[in-house]
Amino acid sequence: MNRTIIALLIAIIATVTIADQKIGVPVLIGPNFWNIRGNFRVMAVVNIHTQMSVIKLPNGKFLIVDTIDLTSDLKSALDRMTNNGANIEAIIGVHPFHTTYFKAFYDAYPTVPFYGTPRHLRVVKDIPWKGDLNQQNIRNKWNPDVEIRLPAGAEFVNPQPEDNHFNSAWLFHKPSRTMHIDDTVIYADEDSLVLKIFGIKKGDMIFHPKIDPGLYNYPAAPFEFRDWVLKVIKDWDFDNIVCAHLGNKLGGAKLKLNQTVTAAEPLFRKLSEKRK
Ligand SMILES: *[C@@H]1O[C@H](CO)[C@@H](O)[C@H](O)[C@H]1NC(C)=O
Repeated sequence: MNRTIIALLIAIIATVTIADQKIGVPVLIGPNFWNIRGNFRVMAVVNIHTQMSVIKLPNGKFLIVDTIDLTSDLKSALDRMTNNGANIEAIIGVHPFHTTYFKAFYDAYPTVPFYGTPRHLRVVKDIPWKGDLNQQNIRNKWNPDVEIRLPAGAEFVNPQPEDNHFNSAWLFHKPSRTMHIDDTVIYADEDSLVLKIFGIKKGDMIFHPKIDPGLYNYPAAPFEFRDWVLKVIKDWDFDNIVCAHLGNKLGGAKLKLNQTVTAAEPLFRKLSEKRK
């Protein structure tokens, strides 16, 4: 590519902002469930967002799901919600590769128990983790308001290679009918030029582009994943999905996820053939 084309591409990319809710501000999605968007830039300029959620449990304490840049404004907001952290029940990480901001949260709230994916425990050594989400008893810790499941057909403990961000634990909060899903599912809540280049338009929901190599390397894996998603659709009465990238699907999320699975059928077949 010559310099002019590269400059043009950068100019196009630089115009992109995926602007839904305000960065770093807790937004109430449903009863006792707040979502907070964070900045996450690829190629330094395209802001594809990342997220955290805050859940108020029946005991009055707060469960923090994922972490984003802990700005002083966000710290103040969390301190106000949680009596300076005294009412934080736990901080958990559900995506193996969303690890960057945990240390800052630990420094801010050092007495709060932290739980992560097995990769969090391997990579963020400064935190005395209390357990990992590969353990069923940890996933069940905040039942019945909160349920956590691990997708079938994909590696959760040690996903390889390092850019395979497909898999994450899925969390469902019953009172707000909201699922918190990191990279596995992506929802475009705005149109943008860059997304158009990749054929994605406003209102599209897709599985993460790393679905291959994200799924296990045997022919049944794509169908194990598909059937697992269909079971989630059947079991969990959700209406919203908050997604790490790019934005949130608020209302009608069950129908949309069901359509996404149906539309992905040719992809599942192709990935299965490839694995024979
Ligand atoms: C999901 O879509 C299938 C068709 O692909 C349909 O039979 C089923 O009823 C739908 N389920 C829900 C919960 O929308």
